[in-house]
Amino acid sequence: MEHVPFKTSSREEFFPVTTTPVADRSTTTVAARATDLSKIYGQGETQVVALDRVSVDFRQAEFTAIMGPSGSGKSTLMHCVAGLDTFSSGSVRIGDTELGSLKDKQLTKLRRDKIGFIFQAFNLLPTLTALENITLPMDIAGRKPDKQWLNTVIDMVGLRDRLGHRPAQLSGGQQQRVAVARALASRPDIIFGDEPTGNLDSRSGAEVLGFLRNSVRELGQTVVMVTHDPVAAAYADRVVFLADGQIVDHMLQPTAELVLDFMKQFDAKGRTS
Ligand SMILES: Nc1ncnc2c1ncn2[C@@H]1O[C@H](COP(=O)(O)OP(=O)(O)OP(=O)(O)O)[C@@H](O)[C@H]1O
Ligand SMILES: [Mg+2]
Repeated sequence: MEHVPFKTSSREEFFPVTTTPVADRSTTTVAARATDLSKIYGQGETQVVALDRVSVDFRQAEFTAIMGPSGSGKSTLMHCVAGLDTFSSGSVRIGDTELGSLKDKQLTKLRRDKIGFIFQAFNLLPTLTALENITLPMDIAGRKPDKQWLNTVIDMVGLRDRLGHRPAQLSGGQQQRVAVARALASRPDIIFGDEPTGNLDSRSGAEVLGFLRNSVRELGQTVVMVTHDPVAAAYADRVVFLADGQIVDHMLQPTAELVLDFMKQFDAKGRTS
């Protein structure tokens, strides 16, 4: 097979389609930004470059999907930008705050106040009701939830009649919706989800994704989601593609078909190079 080096501007070759961004991306505010971000695990022979000088913006009220092969650095990127992990070099800012300039306590506070997380394994406490799980982070922080906002979130995820149930009494999709509501309840500046629908059947997954998209469209929420699924990625406004710790391309207004085509092309190129 012919050797085809991967080019970052390759999308136009595959898809000569012009797409218009949802908002003018040059004028919207940056919710989070990574600049020349590198993360290296280990030393010498066992060294792994998980992120290799990644620069990326996540804009306010935009829904971004991060895609790429297993081991390409998706979770690492998300964890570094969300302040859950340290990085080797480069910088990360959330809003106007440089994470590198913060002490541990300040970082914990920033995470608590500005960032929401949705994990693949829900991370709900089994002994608490749905409502108690939703308000738990605020309870720990000693903050009173904004009642009106909490009601908006609860109605939006459709959990009104399940608030007194414990996780074991809820379906997988309902549990994930509790996790989504928990992430939104404190009105974080940005929500990160690492395969938030990875454990759900397609119907429950569609519900959660639809809800995330609504929170972006209707509430101006900023969402960044790692996913392997082109159908899930199509809910986003933009897809960022990672390979070997680098951003290799991105796509605005993705559709499942375009993402799937891109992944196939990408796969073919990846195997030949
Ligand atoms: N704690 C660690 N120690 C050493 N290497 C690590 C560690 N965590 C991750 N890595 C390596 O860094 C690279 C990126 O890992 P990461 O978890 O970000 O990948 P990913 O794109 O999220 O993959 P997946 O789709 O499988 O979740 C991988 O090669 C992985 O083996
Ligand atoms: Mg991962």
